[in-house]
Amino acid sequence: MQTKIKEASIVCGIIGETSVKNVMPELLSGLKKLEYRGYDSAGVAFFDNGKINRVRCKGKIEGLEKLAVTENYESRVAIGHTRWATHGEPTENNAHPHKSPDGKFFIVHNGIIENSDEIKKTLLSAESVFESHTDTEVFAHLLEKYYDGEPVSAIAKAQAVLKGSYAFGILCSDYPQNIFAAASGSPLLAVKSKNGFSITSDSGAINTGTEVYRVCDGEICRLSCDEAEFFDAAGEKISKQSESTVEKDDSFDKAGYEHYMLKEIYEQPTAVKNTVSSLVALGSISLPDVTLDDDFIIEKLQKIIIIACGSAYHTGIVGKHVIESFSGIPCSVEIASEFRYSVPLADENTLAVFVSQSGETADTLASLRLAKRCGAQILSIVNVRNSVIARESENVIFTKAGREIAVATTKAYSAQLVAFYALGILIGRVKGCVSVEQEEKFTAELLRLPEKIQDTLAQLDEEIKNLSKELYTCSDAFFIGRLKDYAIACEGALKLKEVSYINTQSYAAGELKHGTISLIENGTPVFAVAGESKVFSKTLSNICEVEARGARVTVITDNAKQSLVANGRTVIAVPDTLSEFRPSLLVLPLQLLSYYTALLRGCDIDRPKNLAKSVTVE
Ligand code: M6R
Repeated sequence: MQTKIKEASIVCGIIGETSVKNVMPELLSGLKKLEYRGYDSAGVAFFDNGKINRVRCKGKIEGLEKLAVTENYESRVAIGHTRWATHGEPTENNAHPHKSPDGKFFIVHNGIIENSDEIKKTLLSAESVFESHTDTEVFAHLLEKYYDGEPVSAIAKAQAVLKGSYAFGILCSDYPQNIFAAASGSPLLAVKSKNGFSITSDSGAINTGTEVYRVCDGEICRLSCDEAEFFDAAGEKISKQSESTVEKDDSFDKAGYEHYMLKEIYEQPTAVKNTVSSLVALGSISLPDVTLDDDFIIEKLQKIIIIACGSAYHTGIVGKHVIESFSGIPCSVEIASEFRYSVPLADENTLAVFVSQSGETADTLASLRLAKRCGAQILSIVNVRNSVIARESENVIFTKAGREIAVATTKAYSAQLVAFYALGILIGRVKGCVSVEQEEKFTAELLRLPEKIQDTLAQLDEEIKNLSKELYTCSDAFFIGRLKDYAIACEGALKLKEVSYINTQSYAAGELKHGTISLIENGTPVFAVAGESKVFSKTLSNICEVEARGARVTVITDNAKQSLVANGRTVIAVPDTLSEFRPSLLVLPLQLLSYYTALLRGCDIDRPKNLAKSVTVE
């Protein structure tokens, strides 16, 4: 038996196809669409003359595609996987599909098996040999253990001992016409297409389908090219209604843009427009999937905790300031990976707000469950409708950004900002802090925001492209701002480092002189976000302080303040809007700057190294 095995958890995409024709081209093109979920390694298993062949590659799908072409792989039944590793190197051995020791079962997995070590110790033989350092492989061993000629009952028995979340695609060498699948806690769809059936963890991987079946928690399915059968957790056959059809999904079309990131930056007016119009009706905020009682808000609500990761956390910082200013209710913002292990000071008088584009982020989900156990009211701001965070939240504000493919978020970020504005206004109104007239003024400006976003992008694109020519050779950059501007500084710094790999730091502008200012040298690029009128003069002082130490400052502000900061400086000015909504415009030049700088540095913009779109592990 192998000594201590470190689990290799995964964030990934799975796909499987059965067809009357060769499935390999479609399977690989589907895998490419799933690549945004992870791109450390990829693999396929497929029936080849009645036997299962497995091919795995370190790196992106291109490697697999080249092999498929040179080796002329053909098959009518195949499964595939693309992976993002968290533990253990992204080696070929750790790449999926994994197999049972006897080679009867090949499996692909999205999710995490939390009790894999325990299963190894208690259910599998001490002599078991594992090929990989993954949590997934134990499931293949369990299938071998429980198999008596009937795969569905082996799957039922094997999944009964699993803890964690999973969507599996499975091939069994005794059943060359079939794909088997099972899911719990991870999304899995079975889709009827023209020539057969497919399974996928993400509907976008499949072009079109006439019938779509959601494989629900504990369920198992068996697909052949002309039939889909479903079974409950005990392996008993069940009947299932198809839900809807999968329409052709245009999100994977780059529409002439070189990268999804730029396409999504330019989709922001639409993302914001769709989100705003779902939250505003007749001059007033109306949140269709929020059922918080007015009595709760008026009589009980004492504090709001906003919990999220990464960019979603940054929208939370804006959310805190906006909600506090609209309603006077104290708000705190917590990083989900910290909150979940803290002593949560949340109770039935707390509203816990979770923000997540994917609705899958493991730390955010764990925090949500913790807040629920504390008795807090739960509200989530989520982009992916059927995601687990959305399903586990009593109240949801759905952002309508559409599918976001670039790993670096832009349009979902902007949609989250407006969701916070709407939430703040609503709570403020119920608390009696926002009058009818004020609400009308706010909602009218919200409705104007998409056009202002459009104008900002159009006006600044060329200017920012030129600015990136000065930045792309730098190794460090600083981003500063106060209050909501600080949130934008954080987002600007994260975006730039994420896609261009320039080392960036973000600071509350007044905090620099407590240590970090020692890093400012002649020519150090500093981006100062200066949109907050009430601290404008203070930020200006901080700008002067870094300039006095040689920093090359670019100020991001709005038209109204432009002349106040000019003084020979580089100033990027966005159109005017209400102070509460200014973050929505100030962030845009920083998104463009990240994109164009990464472009000049030759980075893989949509798939930055070491990252994945959904982080379903801690
Ligand atoms: O899906 P989520 O919004 O929960 O993801 C949270 C972060 O992982 C995400 O915002 C990440 O920071 C982005 N890649 C930043 O561009």
